[in-house]
Amino acid sequence: MAIEYSERIRRLPVYPVAGAYDLGGDVAMLASNESPDPPLAAVVAAAQRAVAGANRYPDPSNTQLRRALSNRYGVAASRIAIGNGSCDVLLAAGEALLEPGAEFVYSWPSFSVYPHLAAASGARAITVGLDEDQCHDLDAMAAEVTAATRLVIVCNPNNPTSTALPFDRIAAFVESVPRHVAVIVDEAYCEFNMLDDPDTTLDLLPKHSNLVLLRTFSKVYGLCGLRVGFALCGGDDFPRAVDQVRQPFFSNVAAQAAAVEALKHQDAVADRVERAIVARVEVESGLNELGIEPAPSQANFCWFDLPEDAGEAEVVAGLAQRGVIVRAGGALGREGALRVTYGTPAHNARFLDALAAVL
Ligand SMILES: Cc1ncc(COP(=O)(O)O)c(C=O)c1O
Repeated sequence: MAIEYSERIRRLPVYPVAGAYDLGGDVAMLASNESPDPPLAAVVAAAQRAVAGANRYPDPSNTQLRRALSNRYGVAASRIAIGNGSCDVLLAAGEALLEPGAEFVYSWPSFSVYPHLAAASGARAITVGLDEDQCHDLDAMAAEVTAATRLVIVCNPNNPTSTALPFDRIAAFVESVPRHVAVIVDEAYCEFNMLDDPDTTLDLLPKHSNLVLLRTFSKVYGLCGLRVGFALCGGDDFPRAVDQVRQPFFSNVAAQAAAVEALKHQDAVADRVERAIVARVEVESGLNELGIEPAPSQANFCWFDLPEDAGEAEVVAGLAQRGVIVRAGGALGREGALRVTYGTPAHNARFLDALAAVL
């Protein structure tokens, strides 16, 4: 007899994981919007020092990391939540805010974890299509906010489409949402957004106690393997709520120490952003030569529709045969599209050569 699982487990979507984890050799891993650069030696050393004390539980309050983030971003430590990756904060937000009868508004296609929040809680997911520029349609989202809405998420820049909205549009949207509705602006890729300084949204926090800026060490800081994310909040109730629904030791000693050290190296962050922008220009022009027009990227990846006669699965398989792993759009909300992370110059060139060969 098979084990009998909860009704909830049947509702939960399975996260579309990337392939290639079992491939050896020099694979161009362009499927998960990671940084192509390994962590700095000082960051690795800080993590190693912390591991030497791993017979002790990690600090459940993440005191040093929250202090370091508070100094960097000018947000009180009591208004900062830490997570085992920003996904952890997202899932905890779903648990803390949603329940049957509640509504949760987000755009689609957007980050594949969002559907999980409604499915897990039994809340109603209200998904709003992107506009013709593949950007969030904030007016349409605002129109979906009702008395039952508990949570709205805006992903800016948006994964998987790479597009971003300017600060003034985000600010006006946040202003329009009633104060009792939590608004998470998921800024996992904000450092790569050239429309505005990534720190601009911080100005909204003192004005909006319901606002949460969700950020991560996984992308520009290049620490996704250690799993650290954080939320900068307009109030201290959100950090308290997400801590209440999780196990106390959600972030390990190596992750906390590495993140504290990584914050000290803002010059390295600026370098990585610069290299991503160079890659953006090179990949976009290579795609243009193949007759492909990617969405205007403000992230560390691009998103484009394949030519009509090219099958998505065949192209992804053909690229994989040539040592290039990318994401098929179908699993991310748009059949016939591809999402490709910018990698090293060599991997980007390999991707463009491989795509030319496959098409
Ligand atoms: C938009 C967005 N938000 C959040 C995350 C979660 O990242 P992590 O849990 O590694 O912080 C990702 C990861 O790809 C993402 O694309």
